[in-house]
Amino acid sequence: MSTKDPAVLARRLARAEERVSILETMLEDRAREVYLASQRLQATTESLTELFKAVPGAILVFGSDGLLEAVNGETLRLVGHSESELIGEPYGRLFSGPQPSIDTLRELAAMGQVFRGEHQLRRAGGDRIPVLLSITLLDGASVSLVCVAIDLTERKKLEAELLHASKLESIGRLASGIAHEINTPIQFVGDSVHFAREAFAAIARVVVQSMALTRLQQDGASSAALLTALDDAGQIQAEADLPFLLEELPGALDRALDGLHRVAEIVKATKAFAHPPGGELRPANLNKAIETTLTIAHGEYERVADIQLDLGDLPLVACHVGELNQVFLNLLINAVHAIEDQHQGSRGTITIVSRVDRDQALVAIGDNGGGIPERVQQRIFDPFFTTKEVGRGSGQGLAIARSVVVERHKGTLTFETAAGRGSTFFVRIPLRPPTRTSTSGLRAVR
Ligand SMILES: Nc1ncnc2c1ncn2[C@@H]1O[C@H](COP(=O)(O)OP(=O)(O)OP(=O)(O)O)[C@@H](O)[C@H]1O
Ligand SMILES: [Mg+2]
Repeated sequence: MSTKDPAVLARRLARAEERVSILETMLEDRAREVYLASQRLQATTESLTELFKAVPGAILVFGSDGLLEAVNGETLRLVGHSESELIGEPYGRLFSGPQPSIDTLRELAAMGQVFRGEHQLRRAGGDRIPVLLSITLLDGASVSLVCVAIDLTERKKLEAELLHASKLESIGRLASGIAHEINTPIQFVGDSVHFAREAFAAIARVVVQSMALTRLQQDGASSAALLTALDDAGQIQAEADLPFLLEELPGALDRALDGLHRVAEIVKATKAFAHPPGGELRPANLNKAIETTLTIAHGEYERVADIQLDLGDLPLVACHVGELNQVFLNLLINAVHAIEDQHQGSRGTITIVSRVDRDQALVAIGDNGGGIPERVQQRIFDPFFTTKEVGRGSGQGLAIARSVVVERHKGTLTFETAAGRGSTFFVRIPLRPPTRTSTSGLRAVR
């Protein structure tokens, strides 16, 4: 009902003004909240941008067309290109190594996992740097890939240095054995050369006497003088024991040559073993590498075990052979220790087999020691895990062996073991240089 009563109208107006003022206040509050939220959003965006720039790993975001859309500062540093040069580049021009398919990434994402592997990032100028690459699929309105690459150059360098240091440490540990190895042939070289010198002196006396006899004859000496000289010659010949010397001398010279050859072999093996790290994979004869290792470790196993060698025909294998020598040595020394612990004085047997196993070269080193107890099987590849007393083991042998075989050569290192019967370690190296990482594993035989 409408009214013209001024008092009623004034009251209504007052109420309306009151509502407007409440709405105004609410609006102001909302506006302040929106303002503060946008401030916070801006601050978050800025700090996320700062974070994106400052992350110590390279971040590369590829759009649904597979082209690079965004990068951070670390990427620019690693790749050596400016942002404008990089944006729009396809994945394959930046990384070498296979790119997982979108389906694979989707499957991994469904399991809450991220694709991770070692790849190489191409730098300006053509160099490649090793990186640990993880790829995440952002499967929103447009599919995009977020790649995070961590520079592994320094880690690789340190690993190579550690490997070299441990190799030099092994040589240090083996030094007295190697010295003994050299000393034994040197001793029989010495004995043989000594015998040859005495024999030469005796033969020289016979030759000189027979030359004197010939001269007397040519000079027309009297028969009495000739007879006396003949007597002397006979006596000198008898003293020299010519038949004995003529029979023994060639053998002594052969033994001296053998000894020198053996010393040269040991020196060569020591040099080959200490081969500096790094560089490209090079074709090498793994059977020879096994023999090199046996030569320098001879002093370690000769009192403990017999070696049964069963080396098959192997093609040359692309590898870092100095590093594989170290792996074979570590496995051999572990076998020696296992036999020492189990046999308490009696000799054991170490079996070394090499074969082509499908597309891999296989080297198996087995012992008839006590086996690896089940409770430690999961841990033997852990760095610094050891069951040996200080001075006998530091727990690095298998960790290094695994890093060499699995990471450096993309091969596998596995073992079989049986309590009281022994253990066998299997090193498998791809015959063709590989592109994917495989894993190490274990299998126990009971
Ligand atoms: N052939 C084997 N038989 C029985 N146990 C073994 C054998 N090889 C390795 N192990 C076990 O695995 C552990 C780890 O071996 P690893 O070679 O890494 O270290 P280590 O031999 O103890 O020390 P290091 O090799 O650094 O001198 C050993 O301490 C031992 O318990
Ligand atoms: Mg060891």
